[in-house]
Amino acid sequence: MRIVFLGPPGSGKGTQAQVIARSLGIPQISTGDLLREAADKGTPAGTKAQEYMERGALVPDSIVIELVREAISNGDQFILDGFPRTLEQATTLDDVLEEMNLALDAVISIDVPLDSLVERLSGRLTCPECNAIYHTSYNPPRQKGLCDTCGEDLYQRADDTPGAITHRFEIYKKQTTPLIQYYKDKGTLITLDGTRSIDEISAEVGGIITRLEKDHGVQRSYPSR
Ligand code: AP5
Repeated sequence: MRIVFLGPPGSGKGTQAQVIARSLGIPQISTGDLLREAADKGTPAGTKAQEYMERGALVPDSIVIELVREAISNGDQFILDGFPRTLEQATTLDDVLEEMNLALDAVISIDVPLDSLVERLSGRLTCPECNAIYHTSYNPPRQKGLCDTCGEDLYQRADDTPGAITHRFEIYKKQTTPLIQYYKDKGTLITLDGTRSIDEISAEVGGIITRLEKDHGVQRSYPSR
């Protein structure tokens, strides 16, 4: 299964990608996580990327494409979360998949208005160890401030300030929304109403995966989170 999650910052791409990846036992490839890891390690690409991420700007295509190329070379099934975000990234992804004799099964676009995004991102908590995503109200950890899986102290991302969120949303509208038409034209786009609860959206995504798997001759019911 090869799925892309598209959507503005805070729409729930990472949350839904983690649910599916865990259920299907395939990797979730989040370019945001890969870039933050590279920045933490202080690699030249990571250090350069950090400057862009802190202001909520897109990291140059050349850096992101290299990271994704390496990540997807390890297997033929994956969930891409936050990539592609520009037309150049989308066409490069097509070329890389074609070289591997593969294609995307679906591009799932999660639609959420700006006011909900600010509320979601202001309450987001992330695990530094396993990248699990929580929300103080909508998806709280069992023990306040600690990851359910690793027990690590959860943190708030540096780019989740109101100013950076608004900037990220503007960048999304300008640079990433053209991909909606791109994938519509290819017949792979599925748009979801992202204003519902995490579980309602997961159930709809589960139904989509089950249908796609049926098309591939796989029969099983999709487990929820
Ligand atoms: P990245 O880490 O990808 O950030 P983003 O796209 O801004 O998306 P987010 O991770 O903020 O949100 P999400 O949609 O995953 O929502 P989540 O599930 O966490 O990228 C960070 C930066 O890296 C970019 O700004 C850029 O600089 C750079 N970058 C990354 N990829 C790049 C690329 N391809 N090209 C260039 N640069 C790139 O949910 C958010 C919160 O809401 C959580 O608290 C969650 O619990 C809650 N929540 C989720 N769903 C629901 C729901 N249905 N109801 C209520 N709450 C919900």
